[in-house]
Amino acid sequence: MVENGKAAAGQQDIAGLDEAEARDRLRLLASQIAAANLAYFQNDAPIMSDADFDALKRENAAIEARFPHLKRQDSPSEQIGAQLGEGFSKITHSERMLSLANAFDAADVADFVAGIRRYLGLASDAPLAFTAEPKIDGLSLSLRYENGQLISAATRGDGETGENVTANARTIADIPQQLSDAPTILEVRGEVYMSHEDFAALNARQAALGAKLFANPRNAAAGSLRQLDAAITRARPLRFYAYAWGALSAPLAATQSGAIARLGEMGFSINPLTRVCRDLDAMLAHYAQIEAQRATLGYDIDGVVYKLDDLGLQARLGLRATTPRWAIAHKFPAELAWTRLEAIDIQVGRTGALSPVARLTPVTVGGVVVSNATLHNEDYIAGRDARGGEIRGGKDIRIGDWVQVYRAGDVIPKIADVDLSKRPDDARPFVFPSHCPECGSEALREEGDAVRRCTGGLICPAQAVEKLKHFVSRAAFDIEGLGAKQVETFYTDGWIKEPADIFDLKSKYESGLQQLKNREGWGEKSAANLFDAIDERRRIGLGRVIFALGIRHVGEVAANDLARHFGSWAQFIDCLDRASHEPAAHASDARARKPLLAQSPAWAEITGIDGIGEAVALALTTTLSQGAERASVDRLVAHLDIQAPVARASADSPVAGKTVVFTGTLEKMTRAEAKARAEALGAKVAGSVSVKTDLLIAGPGAGSKASKAAELGVETIDEDGWLALINGLSGGGDG
Ligand code: IVH
Repeated sequence: MVENGKAAAGQQDIAGLDEAEARDRLRLLASQIAAANLAYFQNDAPIMSDADFDALKRENAAIEARFPHLKRQDSPSEQIGAQLGEGFSKITHSERMLSLANAFDAADVADFVAGIRRYLGLASDAPLAFTAEPKIDGLSLSLRYENGQLISAATRGDGETGENVTANARTIADIPQQLSDAPTILEVRGEVYMSHEDFAALNARQAALGAKLFANPRNAAAGSLRQLDAAITRARPLRFYAYAWGALSAPLAATQSGAIARLGEMGFSINPLTRVCRDLDAMLAHYAQIEAQRATLGYDIDGVVYKLDDLGLQARLGLRATTPRWAIAHKFPAELAWTRLEAIDIQVGRTGALSPVARLTPVTVGGVVVSNATLHNEDYIAGRDARGGEIRGGKDIRIGDWVQVYRAGDVIPKIADVDLSKRPDDARPFVFPSHCPECGSEALREEGDAVRRCTGGLICPAQAVEKLKHFVSRAAFDIEGLGAKQVETFYTDGWIKEPADIFDLKSKYESGLQQLKNREGWGEKSAANLFDAIDERRRIGLGRVIFALGIRHVGEVAANDLARHFGSWAQFIDCLDRASHEPAAHASDARARKPLLAQSPAWAEITGIDGIGEAVALALTTTLSQGAERASVDRLVAHLDIQAPVARASADSPVAGKTVVFTGTLEKMTRAEAKARAEALGAKVAGSVSVKTDLLIAGPGAGSKASKAAELGVETIDEDGWLALINGLSGGGDG
């Protein structure tokens, strides 16, 4: 996504577009912007930096300006936010919640001011004042007060209709529940945000609970405000700055600054860095001041908002489709820094993908020292996108180059640009390896694949280690005491070469071949514990086994779909064998095999499974028909007692249709397994207790959920009671 963002055509490129290209580009931009909006607004999980997003919107606007007749019905320039989520009731805003146009440099701000003068017919020296204030990086909220009482609170949503988060808004200390001396109807708008300090503390608490960490304060604020359970919102320290208003029964003041001051008097928090600026220089000077304080403000801001101060003039200027003409957001530049590219390393992943990584002379970008950046793949290094189009104006990246790095959110740094004037004379285009740097096997790039992959399979140590790490990961074998680091050491020391070796560790140890207890960090007891944990995992569900194999495209969901369909390892592997052995399947190139495979009945069976596409089927048959790989899988399976998945949602299951919550420690199975079992029986597993909860399964150490369940009269049983219930046994419910 971000590569494409960076691939955004510059102004010159737009001048060179013909109509068909412009139409294609607008289509692509509409879908990229929609995806980014969805990720940002609905999933609280941005997939690109704000700067990249802005670049896409700008490019879209520039192309539309050149080809107005090509403007799409779903043009991103006509949209504010994202579709609404489910779960909250909706509130239609009595006045649209607006977005802001952006300015990226002083010239844009000058244009903004000049445009307003032109619109109003004012001479260039006529006085014209603007407010300038920080643009808070949070989410906007509209509060409706009637007769001084807070009656509703709504998120922006799509600008017309937002989510009703009234109960949650009432838990925010900065939001008054009651106002004195307010107009009968007053809608106050502003930004909900979380301070850096509160964000860090929240993430520390989340980490201690093993819960999901938030990527940044904005996501934390959004996630916290949009909690269906207001008690959770209350526990999250949210803040609110008021900066605008919607419907009013009487004007607040004659100026923007006066109106905001009035909101301050009514008890709202208003931003102390708000100033009235009498000319462009003062606006830009205040921008510089705010930018200088950015790092020490204690909360995230991403620019400065200028608003025409005179409300009479604001009204004359009015609105465009989604933005007012009288305001603009002057964005801070993305955090960028120049440094030298010292080397390009190639990392090899579990599925053999060769990923180039830039090793950089360490440089500070936005307060963080950066010494690595992703280079994505060979096309990216060469200055091309996946379709052969130019990125960075076609400039390639060479070792020794000066490169501009940027950080998009909290994700791994990327390279934005190359300074050709500083390119060393001896710098040569980077030659992407045709062989795996770890095992020397050929690295091939199949048609349609953006990455080159090592063909070494299990003989490649990098793939082997990554596969082992995946094998022991949580959703796979999840062996207590055998994490990623342990398997890596065991691999390096030659104790474990493949998953099957894990199940041989104990016998080798007992026969004196290996001395675990003499290793650093291991004693007799911890060795015994590890062997017990391994033994426990010999009996394991089919879905986990399939997932654990680490086959490309076969994620947890696909693995479980396969498990449910085949029911046993024997049937699963038999079908794959038939699919690969049917005569049509012998072409060596996977792509060439596809049309041939398509004629095989076994292939039809696999691809006929709900949720299993051709990519999965192809990866399965290709991987499991390879001699060495298959032999390794067979060795593993010989150690295991593979369990059929529990039948899905039978109507007669005692928990079908019920909402259950697990809390405390479970002793007979992991939480993940308990959840999977419950779901397989048709229950819905929730994370917190509410009036909708039918059953709480509480193990030792159950805390607030148990008391909440007691309070709400929710039936509570222990783990044995749960097992008895789902296994259809009687008794043992309260022991
Ligand atoms: S004024 C009529 N002022 O930025 C204009 N917006 O990109 C309404 N924002 O939707 C917005 N700080 O969520 C305004 N001081 C500020 C702001 C601010 C943050 C957000 C707001 C808005 C978005 C537009």
